[in-house]
Amino acid sequence: MKLSDCTILWNREVSPGYYHMGLESPERYTSAMPGQFVMLKAEKAGTLLRRPFSIHDVTTKDGKTIVELLYKVVGPNTRVYGQMKDGEVLSMLGPLGNRFSEPEAGETTFLAGGGIGIAPMLLLARRMVAAGANPADHTVFIGGRSDEDVLAEEAFRTLGFPVVVTTDDGSAGEKGRITEPMARLLEEKNPARVYACGPHPMLVGIAELMKGHPALCELSLEIIMACGMGACMGCVVESSGADEPYKHVCIDGPVFDARSIKV
Ligand SMILES: Cc1cc2nc3c(=O)[nH]c(=O)nc-3n(C[C@H](O)[C@H](O)[C@H](O)COP(=O)(O)OP(=O)(O)OC[C@H]3O[C@@H](n4cnc5c(N)ncnc54)[C@H](O)[C@@H]3O)c2cc1C
Ligand code: FES
Repeated sequence: MKLSDCTILWNREVSPGYYHMGLESPERYTSAMPGQFVMLKAEKAGTLLRRPFSIHDVTTKDGKTIVELLYKVVGPNTRVYGQMKDGEVLSMLGPLGNRFSEPEAGETTFLAGGGIGIAPMLLLARRMVAAGANPADHTVFIGGRSDEDVLAEEAFRTLGFPVVVTTDDGSAGEKGRITEPMARLLEEKNPARVYACGPHPMLVGIAELMKGHPALCELSLEIIMACGMGACMGCVVESSGADEPYKHVCIDGPVFDARSIKV
């Protein structure tokens, strides 16, 4: 885990309020694992604490290692990031946290992202393909309030993954919750692993859906963090085990077996 100043290579608004940013990054990020995150700071934002962002993708071009982020403008830091230009610098700490488990050969999986929760799923999809998975055996579910919140669909399709889209208002894909097509396809596809990241109600719905199903269900939690290093208790979630009452999202997670925490 190290601190680096990273130069912005691009920073594009991909949907109203959502940005895709590429940062020239140290070579060590080529081995960043799906599910891991970085803590970012822009001096201009004027806030003391860094903010966590999932590693959306890691690519290389012209000998440069590029960490790609997908972010939503919600407050002081993301507002500043949204205005930053190519060539400006962000301070990045990482890679941090644990990873989604790796599927074994022959397993099928579901990758589910709600809104900005789709961010960590692209690196997972890319690494699965690099490890030899046939994308057609897996299914990506992207949910959003409306079509403006449906992100990265094209990137998954380009990798060859079937994609199911749901929106609350029916403006893209199927109208309704992401758990509805997941429930329908559960028997047909029989996934061995379900990976999910998104708003809390979505994670509760997925944990509920997978209760009693033999698949491993892994949830990535995007909660508010302060230090990002296990020092402040700012990110604890209740554990379902009796031995340790709490888990830190920053160092024990952000990815958890749904059975190991109280969602
Ligand atoms: C492991 C992890 C990975 C993340 N990955 C991404 C990502 O890839 N892309 C992305 O856009 N965001 C991601 N987030 C959320 C991101 O860290 C926050 O949106 C960030 O705090 C925004 O900073 P800000 O200064 O702009 O706003 P803040 O001042 O931090 O927050 C503005 C408003 O958003 C609320 N808020 C902040 N964080 C959260 C949260 N996690 N859940 C619900 N409400 C919140 C605050 O209460 C406040 O109302 C991730 C969070 C975690 C823990
Ligand atoms: S953010 Fe401080 S302990 Fe996790």
